[in-house]
Amino acid sequence: MQKLLVVFFLFFSVFVFSQDVNITNGWKFRAGDSSSWSSPKYNDNDWSPIKVGSVWETQGYANYDGFGWYRLHVVIPSSIKEKAFLKEKIRFDLGMIDDGDEFYLNGLFIGRNAGKNTDVKQGEYDVQRSYLVSINDPRILWDKENVIAVRVYDHGGDGGMYAGKYGISMMDIVDYIRINTTNDFEFSDTKHVSKKIILESTSDKYDFSGRLQIIVEDPAAHTEVFKQLISADFAKAKPFGYTFKANLPDNKSYTVSYSFQESRTNKAISASEGIPYILTPKAAVSPKINGANVYGVRPNAPFLYKIPATGEKPMNYDAIGLPAGLKVDKQTGVITGMVTAKGNYKVKFSAKNKSGIATKNFTIICGDVIGLTPALGWNSWNCWGLSVSDEKVKASAKAMVEKLADHGWNYINIDDGWEAEKRNDNGEIVPNKKFPDMRSLCDYLHGLGLKMGIYSSPGPKTCGGYLGSYQHEEQDAKTYGDWGIDYLKYDWCSYGDIAPKQPSLHDYKKPYKVMRDALNKVNRDILFSFCQYGMGDVWKWGAEVGGNSWRTTGDINDSWGSLSGIGFSQDVPAPYAQPGHFNDPDMLVVGKVGWGPSLHNTKLSPDEQYTHISLWCLLSAPLLIGCDMSQLDDFTLNLLTNDEVLAIDQDALGKSARKIFDKENIQVWTKDLQDGKKAIGIFNLNDKSAKATISFSELKLPAQLMLRDLWRQQNIGSFKNTFSAAIPAHGVILLKGNPATAK
Ligand code: GLA
Repeated sequence: MQKLLVVFFLFFSVFVFSQDVNITNGWKFRAGDSSSWSSPKYNDNDWSPIKVGSVWETQGYANYDGFGWYRLHVVIPSSIKEKAFLKEKIRFDLGMIDDGDEFYLNGLFIGRNAGKNTDVKQGEYDVQRSYLVSINDPRILWDKENVIAVRVYDHGGDGGMYAGKYGISMMDIVDYIRINTTNDFEFSDTKHVSKKIILESTSDKYDFSGRLQIIVEDPAAHTEVFKQLISADFAKAKPFGYTFKANLPDNKSYTVSYSFQESRTNKAISASEGIPYILTPKAAVSPKINGANVYGVRPNAPFLYKIPATGEKPMNYDAIGLPAGLKVDKQTGVITGMVTAKGNYKVKFSAKNKSGIATKNFTIICGDVIGLTPALGWNSWNCWGLSVSDEKVKASAKAMVEKLADHGWNYINIDDGWEAEKRNDNGEIVPNKKFPDMRSLCDYLHGLGLKMGIYSSPGPKTCGGYLGSYQHEEQDAKTYGDWGIDYLKYDWCSYGDIAPKQPSLHDYKKPYKVMRDALNKVNRDILFSFCQYGMGDVWKWGAEVGGNSWRTTGDINDSWGSLSGIGFSQDVPAPYAQPGHFNDPDMLVVGKVGWGPSLHNTKLSPDEQYTHISLWCLLSAPLLIGCDMSQLDDFTLNLLTNDEVLAIDQDALGKSARKIFDKENIQVWTKDLQDGKKAIGIFNLNDKSAKATISFSELKLPAQLMLRDLWRQQNIGSFKNTFSAAIPAHGVILLKGNPATAK
């Protein structure tokens, strides 16, 4: 049997959280910045009360970015020391902060950015802020009032002390234990899983003994399918490893939980995670042509399109009815050339191998609009951050050609971090040492049938502090054209220093108009992607200013809070999606991500990842893979190669799904498709598996529907009036409903 190696997923370390002093209430807030606001002597009587656990935007500070201070007066009783087993350190849990923090206790500095102590402006969203202080530290005033002051910096979008856990507690012995779940799950087949769990101690002082319990649960049926209790002894130098082997009755969502009970205190720590399961059927050996059925090009612009076809290679491709000026390479399926006359050209693609032949009708629309369906590609940011290099880009391109291009993926986009420190003597932008030759990189990608994207800012500096295009827009657009660039992501960043403090609609549009005009002078089809986080309701004017897509939110990360916060708020911009102009809820966070040189597996559970891809496809979002594609595992590949799911994203009608139902954390989003059918996503936003029942009449769907499960690529039957399904926690069922065949 083939051995499937599937990545380890998320490190849901849910440490048992015992809180000695509650600090969830009583906070006060002031927007702005002053060093005197850390002082215990400062009088904050006139500050406004604020809730921690929600962003400040929803509490009277709409659209506020920049500095703000939170203050809390709290007595720390010495009795908590007496009760504790360990009498060493006290922990301040200050929740998650968007984006940077500086923590002061009684006017004295304790730490910054979760202890990383980087610049406050470089803080990371979605990271729990927990600070440890020795109980003998004079900054703590035992049995007296203490003033906690937190200086917060928000660089855009939502801001504040918005989520996570809050409390003051004595650090306990179990806080030295880690349940390390980072090993891969291994499958001998879909039903037999094994995984090695490691118990680690971070303490030089203490050895541990106790019991490790492992339970695999079917969360829908509430049944345990596997349970084991193991004695475990370990110390810092001697971790305890244990490989469990479980049988999974079905190919569906299971969770595994680990709990270690420490024998001295009887306190336990626990962690849990989802077990990856693959739904996408393997592609057949016989040919199948995938991808959108429409493609836009402007007259006289260089044309490049590779016919995406799965099936055993070698394959012979053809395209009958190509307009004058285009030719197809029959070995690679790459169509190149130039169309001079505007018009809709009906073409018939074919792909043939030793097992058969497939054909597909395709329309080339030569006109003013490009990017008729959302871009499918890769972007370097969510994996490599500023450490992107020519080598890494080429490795991604190679993986795309080998594993993804047959499903329609084709853009390779370099994000921030490619620019040199200075322009050349002619004022032209030049790449830094990591990119020896941009033109030859473009040629290399084009030679593979792929396209190349690049990144800049309308400001003098990009968000990563590299050179932007300010006052060099025409020159940069020309340089991009000369290199052979096909996609430009244009990120507001330091343009905030150029625009007025309270920008008008005109001010928001201006830098994008300037670059639009510059790109119009270049004879290449360059997709134009606006990145300004949704300011000024960009979805209302993005198309008019010539954007092919526009970010609707701040930056995404690989947490459920971020993913669900962004994804499920996309009903507002939804009506504005149209062919050539799409809402962009930010890039994908599946696979190995990291925003820098070291990567980790996404912290999203397998079901959260199914939700991510399903929702983004329903929204007609550009799909930009944000992981290291040279390390694509089977589960991630299953997410990115389901042609029926991708077809929802690439549907030529170009509409976004709308949210048509939202009750008890079950949401239903439906999307109209070009063939008159509907894509239906039923999402369970609950932390537990739930049975969802949808009523067709309540959702204004036809009374009878033939439904197909798109992830499994299986018809599930004809349903009258209602449909019910058990949906895993944070999971989805993605359906295609066909009223015509419903009997
Ligand atoms: C902003 C964008 C990200 C990325 C970085 C690069 O944060 O939103 O997608 O491009 O800048 O610095």
